[in-house]
Amino acid sequence: MTMQADSDGRVVEVEGLEVHYGNHKVLDGIDLQVNAGEIMVIMGGSGSGKSTLLRTLLGLKEASAGSVKLLGKPFDARHPENLRQVRRRIGVAFQGGALLSSLTVGENIRLPLRHHARLDESTMAVMTRMKLEMVNLPGTENLMPAQLSGGMVKRAALARALIMDPALMFFDEPSAGLDPVTSAELDELILRLRDTTGTTIVVVTHELESTFSIADRITMLGGGKVLMSGSVDEVRNSSDPQIQNLLNRRPNLEQPDPDAYLRRLTGN
Ligand SMILES: Nc1ncnc2c1ncn2[C@@H]1O[C@H](COP(=O)(O)OP(=O)(O)O)[C@@H](O)[C@H]1O
Ligand SMILES: [Mg+2]
Repeated sequence: MTMQADSDGRVVEVEGLEVHYGNHKVLDGIDLQVNAGEIMVIMGGSGSGKSTLLRTLLGLKEASAGSVKLLGKPFDARHPENLRQVRRRIGVAFQGGALLSSLTVGENIRLPLRHHARLDESTMAVMTRMKLEMVNLPGTENLMPAQLSGGMVKRAALARALIMDPALMFFDEPSAGLDPVTSAELDELILRLRDTTGTTIVVVTHELESTFSIADRITMLGGGKVLMSGSVDEVRNSSDPQIQNLLNRRPNLEQPDPDAYLRRLTGN
């Protein structure tokens, strides 16, 4: 495998990340390490700051404290040259995963190539067909996006995210809005991507089933912090009530138990 990480094999290194919207602190000291070739799933309830973390990792949202390194390089507005270099090696599949409706599927997928690379049309056509094969959409390059099903649009958007052969791929809620079968197919694709290309993959999701079927490691977010980072088994077997709440999809029991409260006050 090519060297796509620093000497520790870390592709993503986040330390002490704090992010605000106005006075609202959404992320409060996040540490995160993602190793080369693994699938890291960042899990947390709705509003726990998953998308914010992703946007901050990508340099789209500024952190008020902490540091982000991607592919071994500091990745923030203070290092514009790194932003330029590293961005070409990152693929992103955002929630929604929209294609431009006025362009064919093939033209949509070639878009990043037209922006970042100087290649002749026939080379781009071959690369487009390869990526469409990879996402199980052979022979669709001349269709318009409106002719595709929801799951096919997601896969075409994935082909577009892969066209530059990224060393690092980010997914935000990849299976949002998909039926269970289509969503399982997308999980399969993500696994195949890791296995065939060695791409390091970061997936942000609130879906447990998907998390457990694709994750090498899981980072659980809650209350702006990392509640836990570990293997699937470590997370499943955690005795931490906050983790168990997330796993059992119970509403967060923030309401104090009045009896327990009284006992604490009275020391009984
Ligand atoms: N652009 C924004 N402006 C202000 N608050 C925001 C913005 N985006 C998200 N938030 C708030 O930040 C918190 C985390 O949101 P988000 O990162 O979207 O969570 P998740 O992706 O885990 O559902 C929420 O309380 C949300 O209301
Ligand atoms: Mg989100």
